[in-house]
Amino acid sequence: MKKLQSVRGMHDVLPPETALWREMEQRIVAAVEAYGYQEIRLPIVEHTELFARSIGEVTDIVEKEMYTFRDRNGDSLSLRPEGTAGCVRAGIQHGFLHNRQQRLWYAGPMFRHERPQKGRYRQFHQIGVEAFGMAGPDVDAEQILLCRRIWEVLGIQGLRLEINSLGDLPDRRAYRERLVAHLREHRDALDAEALRRLETNPLRILDSKNPALRPVIEAAPAFHEFLSKAARDHYEGLKRLLDEAGVAYVQNPRLVRGLDYYNRTVFEWVTDRLGAQGTVCAGGRYDGLVEQLGGRSTPAAGFAIGLERVAELLPDWDAETLASPDAYLVAVGAEAERFSRGLAERLRDQVPGLRLVANCGDGSFKAQFKRADRSGAALALVVGEEEAARGMVTLKPLRGSGEQVQLDESALVAELRTRVHARRRENTE
Ligand code: HAM
Repeated sequence: MKKLQSVRGMHDVLPPETALWREMEQRIVAAVEAYGYQEIRLPIVEHTELFARSIGEVTDIVEKEMYTFRDRNGDSLSLRPEGTAGCVRAGIQHGFLHNRQQRLWYAGPMFRHERPQKGRYRQFHQIGVEAFGMAGPDVDAEQILLCRRIWEVLGIQGLRLEINSLGDLPDRRAYRERLVAHLREHRDALDAEALRRLETNPLRILDSKNPALRPVIEAAPAFHEFLSKAARDHYEGLKRLLDEAGVAYVQNPRLVRGLDYYNRTVFEWVTDRLGAQGTVCAGGRYDGLVEQLGGRSTPAAGFAIGLERVAELLPDWDAETLASPDAYLVAVGAEAERFSRGLAERLRDQVPGLRLVANCGDGSFKAQFKRADRSGAALALVVGEEEAARGMVTLKPLRGSGEQVQLDESALVAELRTRVHARRRENTE
């Protein structure tokens, strides 16, 4: 029989690596919540139409990358390729966007049928934020500052912030006309992909990775000349706020993004350490989307972080130690086992955050110590018949230095509290 395997581009995360993921997610969420964002939980499956109408019919995501299927009723559904569309859909459906400021965050798997490579997967994970009801550049700047704080709490350095303004719809229409005229003049230099996009989504040609197209792209009219005054003021306002906050950025006029809903501000955080898949976080403003999906006109801005890519950039946290239990409780003999069962529950009650594995399945001292060692626990707590009779426990360090000591229960609780606290801090500092 053929061996069963996970789907290409979709990966398991195993312990101890899961501990790194959890630490990373908790830190990001804490930073996001420090700016007043509240969690929203959204379905993984939505009507295909939602993504076609928001991300855009002629984007790579909708044309080529969605996992789309008919359910048993014959409805066309898709696994979400991103979170913004679902968040806006929920806002309109539940009416929580109207006349109110809302700051929301979400986390979870997204699905795109792309060609898998390092940093690019078919199931990947995002943490994203969306802010509704704020039209000015202050919230754009605040979100960029939030990103900066996230890199800081994760200990990630050296990311480059790229920003651009895509203007508003009329600006883009005017620019599109001029761009198409320019590209038509150089039709012979375009590749098949660009020729196709010339008719459907010419702005995306600016994003082409084909070096042969570089000269034509370099010579294309500059978009910022087409910005309306309002859009230009918004962009200038954003840059002023970033300067004021001491955030370094690079203006990249070629930054156009692969989703159609953006206007005005777009930004990406990029690293050179991940090869071709260097964008770890991306977002921007999408003032037209709520109305486009049937809600009342509501300005909005957001971003999403690609967690697989961020995980690659984390400093050297010790996954083994992060994941491993604090203590393994060894008990030999009927009376010792009885005593240790109660003890284990009392310790979990009294030592906040304690990770305690109690031995299951009998075994000699030797066998139990072997399990304790394999568990990765920092300490063994040992109860023999003699200890059980006196209500004492032997605490024996399994890793690093330290003497073994016999303690009564209250001294043991105090000792474990100190050690657990110290251990959590030292693993990620
Ligand atoms: P996006 O640029 O499509 O934007 O994705 C955001 C981030 O998700 C990317 O920068 C990247 O780190 C990660 N990512 C995307 N595709 C993959 C993949 N195949 N494998 C691994 N990581 C990937 C959005 O999704 C927008 N919804 C962001 C946003 C929120 N804009 C406004 N609000």
